[in-house]
Order: sequence, then C-alpha cells, then structure tokens
Amino acid sequence: MINIRPFREADPAAVEALLDRSFGPDRQKKTVYRLREGVAALPELGFVAFDNKALRGSLQFWPIQIRPLQSDGAPVPAILLGPLAVEPAYAGRGIGMGLMRVGLQRATQLGHKLVILVGDLPYYSRVDFQRVGAEGLRLPGPVDPNRVLIRALVEGAARNLEGLIEKPAASGDHATDTLEQREAAP
Ligand SMILES: CC(C)(COP(=O)(O)OP(=O)(O)OC[C@H]1O[C@@H](n2cnc3c(N)ncnc32)[C@H](O)[C@@H]1OP(=O)(O)O)[C@@H](O)C(=O)NCCC(=O)NCCS
Repeated sequence: MINIRPFREADPAAVEALLDRSFGPDRQKKTVYRLREGVAALPELGFVAFDNKALRGSLQFWPIQIRPLQSDGAPVPAILLGPLAVEPAYAGRGIGMGLMRVGLQRATQLGHKLVILVGDLPYYSRVDFQRVGAEGLRLPGPVDPNRVLIRALVEGAARNLEGLIEKPAASGDHATDTLEQREAAP
C-alpha cells in the first residue's frame, strides 16, 4: 500500500536517483532549476510516497516571487511546484495526484496564495492549474509559454498577475539578474 510521508523520511540520495531516472541526467539544465539554485526547498512542503520501505514518488516546492515589470509594486510571493516524480513502474496508480493533493492542501493551510509550475496542462489541470496566457509571466530562461501554469490557492490571487518569476528576495540572489548579466556580456 502506498502512503505519503514527510520528505525528511526519505534518503536524499534515493530521491536524487528517482529524479534522474524520471527527468534524465540533464534535468538541472532546465530553466526552473535556476530558480532553485542556492535556495532551499520549503521543508514543510516536501512529501514522498512509500510502498512499505521503497520510495515510489517525491514532490517538493520552492519559494519564488513575481516581480512586476510595469510598476514599482512589491514582488508577489508564490511557490514553485516541483519536481514531481513517480517511479516509472508505478505510474498510473494515482501517486502523482496523491502527492499533489497533499502538497496543495498543506500549502493552503500554511497560507500560501499562489502556485506556479512548468508542466503539461492536461495533467495538472486535474488539480486546477491553468495556463498563464501569453506573456503574463516570464521565467529567467527559455521555457514553452504553454507549459507555464498557475493555480490560485486563494480566490483572486492570480488576477492581473504579470511579471518576472525569480528567486525570493531573501535568497540574496535574483535569478533574473544573473540572466540579464549573461545577456549583457559580450
Ligand atoms: C507525470 C507523473 C508525475 C505522473 O505520475 P503518476 O503517479 O503516474 O500520475 P497519476 O497516477 O496520479 O495520474 C495518472 C493519469 O495522468 C495521466 N498523465 C500522466 N502524465 C501525463 C501527462 N504528462 N500529460 C497528460 N496526462 C498525463 C495518465 O495518463 C493517467 O491518466 P488516467 O487517469 O486517465 O489513466 C509521472 O509519470 C512522472 O514522474 N513522469 C516523469 C517526470 C515528469 O514528467 N514529472 C512532471 C513534470 S512537470
């Protein structure tokens, strides 16, 4: 029987191996990883799925913020869902959805208002994610805009949201600064 437990109960090396198997060894080159570099995952929002003592799935969330481009408004805090991975031989048994339901419910209880992810709409729409829409939110690197998805945990939190998704200010390092510097370099 599958049960979902806090992330800290898993062996971190086993989770890394699962992520490599699910996403491939190049996974850290993806744009979303720029938002995770040097920033810790939210410890209270990490979950793993076990079948007895065997790891079958994992889900984490990272803190992010959305910096408005058109105004001097304050950055809007949000959380980034993922990586979500399920052991391939155990796909299709509801583990991914189970992890997300637990994670999103806990995030709501903790007062988070906005969740963003990069993924397939047909899958994530099952837990109420929607496409952001043209040019609404930008990430610090290339990404298919059709895969930038959002879910408000509080009514209205996603309304009129535009800006640059970046690391939280407390991390002391804006992912977008890094990109801008790279683009400015000869
Ligand atoms: C995507 C993933 C997390 C799904 O986990 P899972 O435990 O198999 O998912 P669930 O059992 O909760 O849901 C299965 C259902 O979702 C569908 N589904 C799975 N991946 C899908 C996708 N990318 N797009 C659309 N539907 C998808 C399945 O066809 C199945 O449909 P059914 O219920 O009609 O039979 C898992 O396959 C995985 O780890 N994939 C590799 C890593 C990855 O792509 N992660 C997410 C990227 S953001």
